Parts: sequence; C-alpha cells; structure tokens
Amino acid sequence: MTQRLAMQGDLLDFTAAPALDDTTSPAVRYRPGHWLLIGDDGRVAGVQADAPGEAWPREQHPGRLILPGFIDTHVHSAQVDVLGAYGTALLDWLEQHTFPAESRMADAAHAATISALFLDGLLAAGTTAAMVFPTVHKVSVDALFGAAEQRGMRLIGGKVLMDRHAPDFLRDDVAQAERDCVDLITRWHGRGRIAYAVTPRFAPTSTEAQLAMAGALMAAAPGLYMQTHVAENTDEVRWVAQLFPQARSYLDVYRQFGLLGPRAMLAHGIWLDADDRALLAAHGAAIAHCPSSNLFLGSGLFDWAATRAAGVAVTMGTDVGGGCSLSMPRTLADAYKVQAMANRRVTAWALLHAATRGAAEALHLGHEIGSLEPGSQADIVVWDRAASPVEARRQSVARDLHDAVFAWLMLGDERHVVSTRVAGVERYRRGAYSSNTANDIC
Ligand code: GUN
Ligand code: ZN
Repeated sequence: MTQRLAMQGDLLDFTAAPALDDTTSPAVRYRPGHWLLIGDDGRVAGVQADAPGEAWPREQHPGRLILPGFIDTHVHSAQVDVLGAYGTALLDWLEQHTFPAESRMADAAHAATISALFLDGLLAAGTTAAMVFPTVHKVSVDALFGAAEQRGMRLIGGKVLMDRHAPDFLRDDVAQAERDCVDLITRWHGRGRIAYAVTPRFAPTSTEAQLAMAGALMAAAPGLYMQTHVAENTDEVRWVAQLFPQARSYLDVYRQFGLLGPRAMLAHGIWLDADDRALLAAHGAAIAHCPSSNLFLGSGLFDWAATRAAGVAVTMGTDVGGGCSLSMPRTLADAYKVQAMANRRVTAWALLHAATRGAAEALHLGHEIGSLEPGSQADIVVWDRAASPVEARRQSVARDLHDAVFAWLMLGDERHVVSTRVAGVERYRRGAYSSNTANDIC
C-alpha cells in the first residue's frame, strides 16, 4: 500500500533527448533541493521548490541525487550464475557456461529463487524496470513475472525460443513453444505492469519454422514486444550468413520473418551496416547497447553515433551475465569508454537519458516511467554522490554540474544507492537489505 510522501533532494531528469556531446544541453532538468511529491496512488503528484504542507510525510536527502529508476533493456535473469565466467567469446561462452546454467531453470523452485535474487539485485542497483530474457522453460517465465508482480515492477519478458543448435535439455519445438507462448501471453501480457515479449534467442538457435511462428505471434497481437540479439560477434555473423543465405544480412533475417517493428528491442548491433541501420529506423526498432558485455566477451565496439544519426533509438542493457554487473552506472561508464575508443565523447546527460527517458520512450512507456513528470509511476532512486572520502573530495572540487554528475556516474555503483521505490513503495533501503547470504542461496 502506497502512502503519500514528499522527498527532498537534487532532482535530475530529462525533458528531451540531449545531443551526445553537449555538456550544457537544455534537455537536462536539474532541480536542486526540490520536493518530489508522491501521491497515495504511487504516482508523481508534482515537484515544487517550497516545502509541502503538514499533510505530507517527509523524507529529506540534502545533497543527494534523486533520479527516475533506471531501465535495463537487455538482461538475462538466469545468467546471474555465470557472472564473470573466464575465458571465452560469445559462442563458446554460450556452450560452456550459459547453457548449463540456464538448464537449471527447468526446476520451478530454482527458478523462483533465482528470479527473486535477480530482481532484488536490480532494485539494489537502482534499476526499477527491465526487459528480460528468462530461459526456454515456461516455469522460468512464470517465476520471473510472479516475482516482478510481487515487487510491483515494470517488467517485459518472454519464453526464450530455441529449437536448434542448442543442447537437448534446452531445445523446444515449434508446436510446444507456440502453445507455451499463447498461454503465457494470455495469462501475463497487460497484467499489472507486466508485458510479454516474443523472444527468439538469436537467429542461429531457431529454425525458419520457429521464426515464422514468432512472426505470426507478433502479427496477431500488436501490443506485444519482441526481443532478440543481433550482430554481436563476427563468428556469429558468419554463422548466420551460412544458415540464412537468402537474407541480405543478419538483421534482414528478422525482417523476413516479420519480427521488426516499433516494439522490437535488438541487443548489441555492433556489426550492422548503413542499410541495416536504415532498416531499423524504418521499422522503429531500437538497439539495446550492452557495452560491459561487449568488452567482457570481446565482441566489438558499438557505433552509437552512426546508429543515432540513422534515427535509431539506443537504450542500455547490462546483459548480465555477458556483462559483469547489474549496475547501470557501471554499464554507462563502460559505454563512455567504448565511445572514447573511437575518439568520441558522450556526456553524462546522453548516458543517463539512454537509461531513463530514452529507454522509456523506445518502449512506448514514456507516460509511465523514465522521468519525474507528474502522473508517472513513482519509480524513484535516491543516490549518494560519493561512497568514499576520495569520491567526496572529487565531488567537492567539481567545476560545474556536468563535471559533478559525470564523475559520479563514472565512479558510481550499487554502493551509492540509498533507497529504491517502485510505484512509491520502498523496495530497497541500503543497510536494510535481506539477510540472505551466499550460503542461504546455494
Ligand atoms: N546471443 C545469444 N544468446 C546470447 C546470450 O545469452 N548472451 C549474449 N550476450 N548474446 C547472446
Ligand atoms: Zn543477451
């Protein structure tokens, strides 16, 4: 049950998309020492400079940042078990580490434990909404959605489709997969804050018949999302060219099967060409850029500027377990470094926008999440600006607002999260986190 609350702090959100390189962008809305009012309905009731009346319970966070919760647009719940796994690039990493871990999600109790752990990990990292791959198992989807519903989170996900080029214990078939999807869509899509995404893992693990089935599901229900991977790794791209010789490119496979559209979220997109980017733009499909994963797996360096210039929305994904952290600040810091390798610099504003309002708009959820606009769900995170004396010193000598926020972002992680609210309800408070230890979980 939400209770009205007035929170005071340094409010930061965006009114539009900042240019990638403008440190003084007018799209930044910074309101230091302001009051954010959360109504009894769990939505933002307003923002004001003056203290509200006595009817409002208060929580004051002087000097702390208050942001909309981050939106992770590409992450795998089951892959908490392969975080930081040594030694492989994408295709071997899938075989050696990821598929064995995902097989364990066939067990409903395990799926429930992992889903709860995963969502609590997101909340502790300041992420309140996510687009998630569970696994091929129907129980993994029920577990994920059930855990998200308990926490009131905005969550998009769906059963992973994979009917070839995977171990027996992870393969489905077209008819059973379709039945599972239809049942899951019927029970979950549009229930509270849950939405369903048709989820072919990537082109190599689905037959043409399965991709056609996925396309038919999309055509039958226009409100569904679609999520998959594309053009992440050069060996993968070559493999797709062999498997689908009739397609112009890897991305074109998805077009041929009716999987591109305004609710399609494609992870990575490192090895796309200009025609691919134009195709994405023409369909209104978005790219989930996953810099930490791209660095860790050695996949390559994403061209954010070219993708944006083509008119494609770029959002951010941690891609755990290819990425090593559920923390969006750590992911954004890696995004900055990936662009720096191409001698480009991306501002804190462009990075933060991509993980908040930009992601919300790409998902057609800008009315609900991603900003501090009145009427939005109060998915709100309070952040310390420093987690050590050294960081506090750095903040104290910041030259201007961008310098301070950029340094915070580059150094930031879970330690900086003070409180996470979902629809106004506090779901994480630093120091009050569950007593779970590694031993409890194993
Ligand atoms: N491509 C197909 N499956 C996966 C996955 O689980 N992680 C990543 N990073 N890429 C993939
Ligand atoms: Zn992924």
